[in-house]
Amino acid sequence: LAQYSDFVETAYLIIHGELPNAKQRRHFGDLLRLHSPVHSAMDHLFEGFPLGSHPMAILSALLNSLGCYYPHLATNRVQEDLANFEEASAIAISKVRTIAAMSYRKSRGLPYIYPKRTLPYCENFLHMMFSQPYEDYVCTPEVAQALNLFLLLHADHEQNCSTSTVRMVGSSAANMFTSISAGISALSGPLHGGANTAVMGMLQAIHDEGDDGTRFIAAAKSGSKSNRLMGFGHAVYKNFDPRARIIGEACDIVLKRLGIDDPLLHIAKTLEQAALKDDYFVSRKLYPNVDFYSGIIMRALGIPMNMFTTMFAIGRTPGYISNWREVASNPKGRIYRPRQIYVGATKRDYVPMVQRH
Ligand code: CMC
Repeated sequence: LAQYSDFVETAYLIIHGELPNAKQRRHFGDLLRLHSPVHSAMDHLFEGFPLGSHPMAILSALLNSLGCYYPHLATNRVQEDLANFEEASAIAISKVRTIAAMSYRKSRGLPYIYPKRTLPYCENFLHMMFSQPYEDYVCTPEVAQALNLFLLLHADHEQNCSTSTVRMVGSSAANMFTSISAGISALSGPLHGGANTAVMGMLQAIHDEGDDGTRFIAAAKSGSKSNRLMGFGHAVYKNFDPRARIIGEACDIVLKRLGIDDPLLHIAKTLEQAALKDDYFVSRKLYPNVDFYSGIIMRALGIPMNMFTTMFAIGRTPGYISNWREVASNPKGRIYRPRQIYVGATKRDYVPMVQRH
């Protein structure tokens, strides 16, 4: 897929189980184009957020609000919501991109740019991000290709934290928009989707300090969660994250084609080599993950750091949709209810306020 496909086609595959034929691809593209603008009343929701609000918070809130604009798609009655699945999924994939771009414009105090019907998915996103009312952003094929690659590599990834959250919420028969919104909240944490931002913060700090990464590596070996080498390690991949390899190679190609020499890429490579030789990382099977190089690509595309996790969310939306459907359409499905082993005190008497210390 990384070699031959693009994001929209991959999204179709993830949702429908097969790559689309030409007619299906056209129809899917038409649906995405149709649903690219947001209801004008949504502008007021953006206005309610203070300047500098984090785009992930805005994205999660506004994705949830979509159900208010499309009540027939968010009835919280599973069979009815499933009957309109095609429309709802196109709305989610298309509008998550529009809302993300609008949240960026809002965070910068810039006027919103409306989507263009003529543009493909990625080009349209970049247009909404970077065009001005008086001047259109010109997207090169290299940039569109790199964005497609980034998004499709993030499109789904089994039971990660945010996808499990989507499934958990969906298991209560909550509608798709609400379930995705919950997933986006889970994605925002630095151990999950927020890692791509944390990686860039780490690389930038190494650069600013003129360090070669030795201090960060030493701190990461302390075992403290707050000092981890960001972009390293994975809950499932204990050999190598295959996405990291593809993104790492793409980084070199994209930056070369765009004529960018990013010092953070050199630092990332040095850091990777140092960690791969260090017994702490080797013995714990800690390798670069998808987030290690992805920020460098986004930086090359002009995407600001506070949008990195939002980009992950755009990419992951097809996966959320597909997982929501799997849970919602399971005739034997039950509400998720994890059990816990309680290890606290057994019986405690109620203590009146006056006796409490
Ligand atoms: N830097 C330093 N030490 C680490 C790191 C790291 N990045 N990751 C794990 N360890 C250590 C951890 O302290 C533990 O050491 P010990 O055995 O001495 O207690 C050992 O390695 C095993 O770690 P773990 O906590 O059992 O690993 P996990 O599978 O629960 O966690 C992880 C996976 C991805 C949360 C973790 O590796 C991590 O925090 N990485 C940094 C954040 C990151 O890059 N997240 C993106 C993940 S990929 C995309 C996504 O899911 O969003």
